[in-house]
Amino acid sequence: MNKITIKNNENTESEIFIENDISKKIQDFFEDKRYFLITNTTLAKLYPEILYKFNKKRIIIIKDGEKYKNFKTCNYILNELLKEKIERKDCIVALGGGVVGDMAAYCASTILRGVELIQIPTTLLAMCDSSIGGKTGYNTPFGKNLIGTFYCAKKIIIDPQFINTLDNSNYKCGLGEILKYAFIEKSCKNKKLYNLLNFLTINQTQDVKNEMPYIITCCASLKANVVSLDKKENNLRKILNLGHTYAHAIETYLKYKKISHGEAVSYGIKYAAQLSYNLSKIDKEYYNKINFLIDKFSLTNKKLKLKKEKVIELMTHDKKVQNGRINLLLPVAPLEVALFDNIDLPSLEASLL
Ligand SMILES: NC(=O)c1ccc[n+]([C@@H]2O[C@H](COP(=O)([O-])OP(=O)(O)OC[C@H]3O[C@@H](n4cnc5c(N)ncnc54)[C@H](O)[C@@H]3O)[C@@H](O)[C@H]2O)c1
Ligand SMILES: [Zn+2]
Repeated sequence: MNKITIKNNENTESEIFIENDISKKIQDFFEDKRYFLITNTTLAKLYPEILYKFNKKRIIIIKDGEKYKNFKTCNYILNELLKEKIERKDCIVALGGGVVGDMAAYCASTILRGVELIQIPTTLLAMCDSSIGGKTGYNTPFGKNLIGTFYCAKKIIIDPQFINTLDNSNYKCGLGEILKYAFIEKSCKNKKLYNLLNFLTINQTQDVKNEMPYIITCCASLKANVVSLDKKENNLRKILNLGHTYAHAIETYLKYKKISHGEAVSYGIKYAAQLSYNLSKIDKEYYNKINFLIDKFSLTNKKLKLKKEKVIELMTHDKKVQNGRINLLLPVAPLEVALFDNIDLPSLEASLL
């Protein structure tokens, strides 16, 4: 079993455990307290054996989907917990992807001013990203994740076997974020260098499912390191956004349909690499390596037919454009990225292939 410890604020710690089939023995993590499970309808159907480990009265099942990531669902969860007389010494367990995880964590952080939280992430994205770092929240009509708190899970139990039931789109979504970690690894200032970039490049097959315990350990460790160095999103955490300025514009453009978030991030990384190469910040060899890896995992194969002007308009919409220039995170060397605050709009346009 791989174990990672994160030092949080106020001398608390989060522990991450990664092992195939670890979810089959979650009772080994239980102490002498009451556990409330929060999950969704899809996972409840797929994994009834996990639900059996909880008292029926302490299982809360919510509807599946980003559109239910809202105040109403959180209010429902909080009321169900209060109905069953949750106490401060009890613990909330989140079983699901980022949507369940973010809302369960929000409820754990606010109910009775905070009860213990265990995350059991079931999507690749949640394993590598959303379950780590303590960001909680839900969406409002004014935008995504606008209400939330910072609240870290005590334990994050990662069972890579959950990936076997994920559909291709959600699998690719996680792969896109994994590639992101491969390109920012040195900038994460991790003590240990995994060289995930090399690992993924030389791995013979494009289906890396069997390697997931190792790959997730690399990504979880990198994210854990970045968030422990930058607990409240001041600066270092920005490196986790490689490809995301492009990605958010593309997702808005396509109304969150057609491609997954991770695929949008992959297009974003591809464009960022093009921009970097055009501006002579990376050489041809590294430029080719980035493209090779994105192509190897077929992450940018869809014909999107994007109008360049519209993408640029969306990219500059919520970012301050000063003197016709915006800031952007770009690859500058293998495993390294840097933030530039002077990218002019013609260069940005030229990066959109
Ligand atoms: N807190 C953070 O730091 C952070 C970081 C990134 C993203 N997020 C949030 O995460 C959310 C996206 O998370 P996501 O991509 O995991 O989406 P999700 O939680 O909606 O899960 C995607 C789909 O997969 C299903 N699913 C989950 N696990 C499964 C499994 N093992 N087998 C079969 N189906 C399964 C879900 O029911 C859902 O239909 C967004 O709301 C985003 O804002 C949060
Ligand atoms: Zn992302």
